[in-house]
Amino acid sequence: MFKHSFKYYKSKNPPPNFEEVLDFQKPEFELNGIVIYKDLALKSSLCNYGLKNLKDWRVYQIPSKNGFIFIRNPFTHAGQRYWIKKCLKDYSRKPNKLNIDNFNVIPSDKNWWDTAQSDKTLLQSLRWATLGYHHNWDTKIYSEDNRSDFPSDLKDMTEYIARKLGFMDFIAEAAIVNYYQLNSTLSGHTDHSEQNLEAPLFSFSFGQTAVFLLGGKTIDEKPVAMFLRSGDILIMSKQSRLCYHGVPRVIKIDHDIWNDEDEFNSNNYYEANDALWTPFNNYLSHSRINMNVRQVLHTGQLKLCH
Ligand code: SIN
Repeated sequence: MFKHSFKYYKSKNPPPNFEEVLDFQKPEFELNGIVIYKDLALKSSLCNYGLKNLKDWRVYQIPSKNGFIFIRNPFTHAGQRYWIKKCLKDYSRKPNKLNIDNFNVIPSDKNWWDTAQSDKTLLQSLRWATLGYHHNWDTKIYSEDNRSDFPSDLKDMTEYIARKLGFMDFIAEAAIVNYYQLNSTLSGHTDHSEQNLEAPLFSFSFGQTAVFLLGGKTIDEKPVAMFLRSGDILIMSKQSRLCYHGVPRVIKIDHDIWNDEDEFNSNNYYEANDALWTPFNNYLSHSRINMNVRQVLHTGQLKLCH
């Protein structure tokens, strides 16, 4: 069932019908069967980490998907620009690991982003970066020997969101940043390499829109399809933590919301009309970025034991 839906939404010819894709941008009364998250402390709090004031967040759950939480873009526009720039310029540098590390195409004193400004093929060949405990794509086993410092801003933001949702012990220890072109897909998979499989997984989307499939514990279950737009956050906790998921399609959108003006001035972040923002905006006009943040260790555990 999962593979069937994946193939359906991936197909270019014939193109799929998106009518059944859950769209959290629709007015709430049109979101049949969706529950508005009630437990969030809706008290006003300072805007932090590029996020809007808590009272402006819209948080949803799908009753049939226990533990799945969706936050509809809680970022300011400048906040989105901050995280997009981080993913492209900073998280793609050492000590983080990239899929292109072994291609030997980046001079040792240079980094991917600067080098790729004059090399379109290189720009489009970055597929992932791993941060903190580096995901080992072959063994799927994390190790103490394959770990670097986790970026403090991403840690602080993810843990802030976790606390607001009641995950008081969550610690951000590993992340995969996925970089998608318009023809990229991510096959159905489960994330089970972490020793702690009870801790939630936080997934942040920026740039072009994805069709995301959330299935069940086996590939036999028909997945729910939903749009993930720039700024959306999804959390997989409890039963949904180990569910199959994947991205069969990235869709080019008309309105680049990350370039919109904010109502108030957020200092320190790029303005959309700043020339320094242009290369990031050019990249994003045909790309999607996803930051996937996990806890690896059990609460109180100091290091991995195998
Ligand atoms: C993932 O499952 O690793 C990424 C999902 C996404 O890109 O939204």
